[in-house]
Formats: sequence, C-alpha cells, structure tokens
Amino acid sequence: MEIKITRATTLKEKPDSSALVFGKAMTDHMFIVDYDAGQGWHDPRIIPYGPLPIDPAAKVLHYAEEIFEGMKAYRTADGSIQLFRPRDNIARMNGSAERVCMPQIPEALALAGITKLVEVERDWVPYEKDTSLYIRPFMIGLDPALGVHASQHVQFIVIVCPVGAYYPEGLDPVKIYVEDRDVRAVKGGTGMAKTGGNYAASLRAGDMAEKAGYSQVLWLDGVHRKYIEEVGSMNVMFKVSGKILTPDLNGSVLDGITRRSCIQLLKDWGYDVEERRISADEIFAAAESGALEEAWGTGTAAVVSPIGELAMKDKKVTVSNNQIGEITQRLYDELTGIQWGRVADPHDWIMKL
Ligand code: COI
Repeated sequence: MEIKITRATTLKEKPDSSALVFGKAMTDHMFIVDYDAGQGWHDPRIIPYGPLPIDPAAKVLHYAEEIFEGMKAYRTADGSIQLFRPRDNIARMNGSAERVCMPQIPEALALAGITKLVEVERDWVPYEKDTSLYIRPFMIGLDPALGVHASQHVQFIVIVCPVGAYYPEGLDPVKIYVEDRDVRAVKGGTGMAKTGGNYAASLRAGDMAEKAGYSQVLWLDGVHRKYIEEVGSMNVMFKVSGKILTPDLNGSVLDGITRRSCIQLLKDWGYDVEERRISADEIFAAAESGALEEAWGTGTAAVVSPIGELAMKDKKVTVSNNQIGEITQRLYDELTGIQWGRVADPHDWIMKL
C-alpha cells in the first residue's frame, strides 16, 4: 500500500535538545491509516500534525476504545537512525487489539507507517546524549454511536516527539510508593493490554503519590493486595541476595519489551532470573535484613530507572543507599549502548532505517 505524503507548509521550531520534557514537543507530521469492517485497512497517509476531526459520539471518547505502544528511534554516532525491536511492539499491539476487539494491523503496514514517518521527521531525531525520538502508535475506535460494541471504523495513528529522560531525576534514583487502596488491573481484565483505560485507573494513586513526594506508585495485585505487579510506567526488578526477581506475566502485568530485553541480558551475564509471584512483604523484609541489594524499573520511556526508596503505609526503606546499583548501571549502559549503536547487538534487536 502506497503511503501518500502531504508536507506541512510551515515547520515548527525544534526544541532545545538539552532541555526536553517527555512527550511535549510534537513534530510536524503524523501517520494515519483507516480501517473499515468489510474493506480492511486503507488510505495510509502522512499529513501535517494537527487536531483530529472526531465525532463527539465516537466510542473512544466514551468507552476508552483505545490501545497504544511506546517505542523510540535512536541517532547513532555516524548520524544514522535505528529502531529497537519494533516488530515486538507491533506484535504486542495486536495482542492488545485482540483483548479489546479492535482489528489486527498487519506488521508490514504498521512498520511502513512508523519508518516512513521517522524518515519524514529525521531532522527531529535529536543528537544529544540520552535523547531519542519517542514514537507513539495508537489505535482508536471511531464509530459515532453510544451502544457498547466494537467499532467498525478505526484509525491507526502514529505521532512522534523528541524526548530526554522520562523522570526529571534522570538516572538519579526515584522514590516509589506502594499503593494499598487503588488497583490497576486484575486477572481477566486488561492489565496485560496497553490500553488507555489502565492508565486512567492509575491517575488517582499517581497523583496522591506525587503530592506526597513520590515519582510513581508500585501496584499490588487486585485480589490479595499483596503481590507486586508493576510501577506506573515501568516493570520492576529486584536484586535480592545476588538473584534477580521480577513479577511473572500473570495476565495483569504488562509484557514489557525493555523487561524482556533486561531479562535476556541478565541471563547472558549468568544471573539467575526468577519470574514469579513476589509479595511486597518479601521485598520489605529483604530490605530490612540487608538482602535487598538493588531495585529498578524498566520501560521504553523510563529505560532502566533506579529505585532509591520504597514506602508502604508507615514503612519506608532505602535501597542501595539511594545510589544507582551496579547491575542497574550495567543494564542501563548495555541496553542504551545497543539502542544507540555503541555496543554490539547480539540478539538482533536493532532495525536500521
Ligand atoms: C512507554 O514506556 O513507552 C510507555 O508506554 C509508558 C508510558 C505510559 C509513558
């Protein structure tokens, strides 16, 4: 399918790449492709970035019929641009689509839209260390009718923006609050899908945590309110007595691509990685006995982010003396090294544009 390109007549001023705030500076163009039941995907196009015409009755506005992905394009030392595991994001999006009854997007079409948009916006891919072009593909249900049914008309859209660190702390450890009132997801719900409603459910707790001085919340399972699931925008890992622990993919935890990549790297380095049920009590007990050596989050936006403090009810523990731990730093260096093309890519994760 040929992608029609309509160029913007005036181009925006690009932001200073040494002071990028995550997700604020959208580029000049976006990619859109329509889907209609009976016709399939049609009219792929790149058009000037701008507001979407949307019927006020569109299902996305009422029933959160929306799924999304997060990925990045990286500028390498020789000035070229590369993506990291883009096919994994598309496969995950199709998993999310299946969960909320949206159509499957063919891998070739999604990849063509993403790569063409990044090519059109190549001057927006920043050169500064630790910066990249964040890519946000999303799919919305547009049927203008208030009945609760899956839409027959859907759009897959891609927008992009240059980004630096997700947290203002950068690589300094973040403080995380273990949420004990709200839950993000339950088994059988949509926790493993990347759908907007999951993030709406997280806003109240995130807001309260922020007001109390925490960067994000750590979610517990919705049934026992006991087992660790994930942090607001990242999966979570712990190093306890030399072993790496991370919650297993139990149906309500997001199958993070950075999570997967970190597990692979840790195994390559000979670590035991246990993917299993982990209670918050186990982690607090490990912190109190000195067995908890490191904790960090993983995500496309957050990359590998050290956790320096965990708080739950009236308990508070410091992790790794509130410093980035050795494994956290090694994972950050190796993963970002692969992403920016500074180190070898033994698992074939990179796709060059
Ligand atoms: C990402 O890491 O790309 C995400 O999608 C998290 C997002 C909610 C900021």
